[in-house]
Amino acid sequence: HWSAEEKQLIASVWSKVNVEECGAEALARLLIVYPWTQRFFASFGNLSSPTAIIGNPKVRAHGKKVLTSFGEAVKNLDNIKTTYAKLSELHCEKLHVDPENFRLLGDILIIVLASHFARDFTPACQFAWQKLVGVVAHALARKYH
Ligand code: HEM
Repeated sequence: HWSAEEKQLIASVWSKVNVEECGAEALARLLIVYPWTQRFFASFGNLSSPTAIIGNPKVRAHGKKVLTSFGEAVKNLDNIKTTYAKLSELHCEKLHVDPENFRLLGDILIIVLASHFARDFTPACQFAWQKLVGVVAHALARKYH
């Protein structure tokens, strides 16, 4: 459950997030830093180098899609499991994404937010966001349980 302060910290950072830019960067970083995640995106074309990944339009578009979807969690903090029930089915039962990867993407997102909003991304803010990415990862992995 969320304190009023946590809700406020999450909302204030989210209001400044450009989902297109931060989403693209987060997915690109995931694919670069944890190259085994590339195997899920074989249909995305050229992922042969960091430059190729960063410039890949399918990576950009999918990153935006993922972060936009993450926004649903932000808007439904008290209802994240229900919000992601269908997506959990997709990722677990159809795509067979190892749930560890949800945690990795969450940590990458934290790094992207910290680098974009350095001054505002205080320890208290990181705490709230770290909690949020944990809840999201758990909700997405739910269909494995
Ligand atoms: C598709 C969200 C993490 C792999 C999607 C879609 C959304 C989404 C909204 C599109 C679903 C649709 O088209 O109906 C998320 C969220 C994540 C997350 C919110 C975590 C915060 C991951 C991770 C991986 C992954 C960590 C793999 C490393 C995929 C793949 C697709 C997909 C392969 C299908 C892509 C395609 O071919 O269009 N995800 N995702 N997702 N996701 Fe995720």
